[in-house]
Amino acid sequence: MQVIENIKDLSIIIKEFKTEKKTIGFVPTMGFLHDGHISLIKRARLVSDIVVVSIFVNPTQFGPKEDFNAYPRDIKRDTQLCIDAGIDILFMPSVSGMYPEGYLTYINVEKITDMLCGASRPGHFKAVATVVAKLFNIVKPDKAFFGQKDYQQTVIIKRMAADLNMDIDIDVLPTVREPDGLAMSSRNSYLNEEERKAAICLYRSLMKAEEMIKNGEKTTSVIISAMREIIESERLAKIDYINIRDAETLEEIEAIDRKVVIALAVWIGKARLIDNIVI
Ligand code: PAJ
Repeated sequence: MQVIENIKDLSIIIKEFKTEKKTIGFVPTMGFLHDGHISLIKRARLVSDIVVVSIFVNPTQFGPKEDFNAYPRDIKRDTQLCIDAGIDILFMPSVSGMYPEGYLTYINVEKITDMLCGASRPGHFKAVATVVAKLFNIVKPDKAFFGQKDYQQTVIIKRMAADLNMDIDIDVLPTVREPDGLAMSSRNSYLNEEERKAAICLYRSLMKAEEMIKNGEKTTSVIISAMREIIESERLAKIDYINIRDAETLEEIEAIDRKVVIALAVWIGKARLIDNIVI
């Protein structure tokens, strides 16, 4: 495995792979890797000649009051996990390399960036779309791998890739969970023991919604109320949003009459956790 920090150095290597007609699979991350990230890397390894993983804690996608400085980092451990997973290149650009002085260009995917997580995190998805587009331009992958855990992010990246004629397959893989159902997340490391127990309420509320739909409930407001009740019974939890949307367009809907995503964001202590299921 090669560890590369310089963007130009990576470009030279990528050019060689391209002349050798090697397919490139790419997994962008912010590091502090867990089994969710590893599942994407394993899939990339299975279907690509060359696997590139990036670790870049992208400062622009954190709001001024968010956790950029506190975001967990462990490069030594991440490097070992990447070696163990058999990747070819670990790309770790610097902030000044990605955003040199005079940087002015951003990608604005409209509408679907303003709702759900975008409503509580203004500018977040503009920064995500921009950094992912930049990483795509540097790595030039044939396929890129994303987790369903960040559902809205996957819809936005797919939209951007289609709208900007990026010739890249976007592969979305299922959410990897802890044994009790909590979605794996680098931010789970913020939780103390009591909060960790409380955090299970997200998954419990999603399971309740699934059960209600299986039993024939069609009205989204009724399902959301039942989910809200589960979360509100947890003293340490504070709801940011609970929403049921069209799984493709993210449009708000009143009845379960198509493929839907049930998505929620909940504060548990300092950690803002998100989760979703698609039904
Ligand atoms: P990060 O949160 O590190 O996640 C990197 C990738 O891992 C994303 O595609 C995310 O959806 C996926 N992932 C996270 N937890 C997962 C889980 N429990 N199961 C399956 N996949 C999971 O998402 C980002 O970084 C950034 O926004 C990024 C795309 C790298 C742009 O900066």
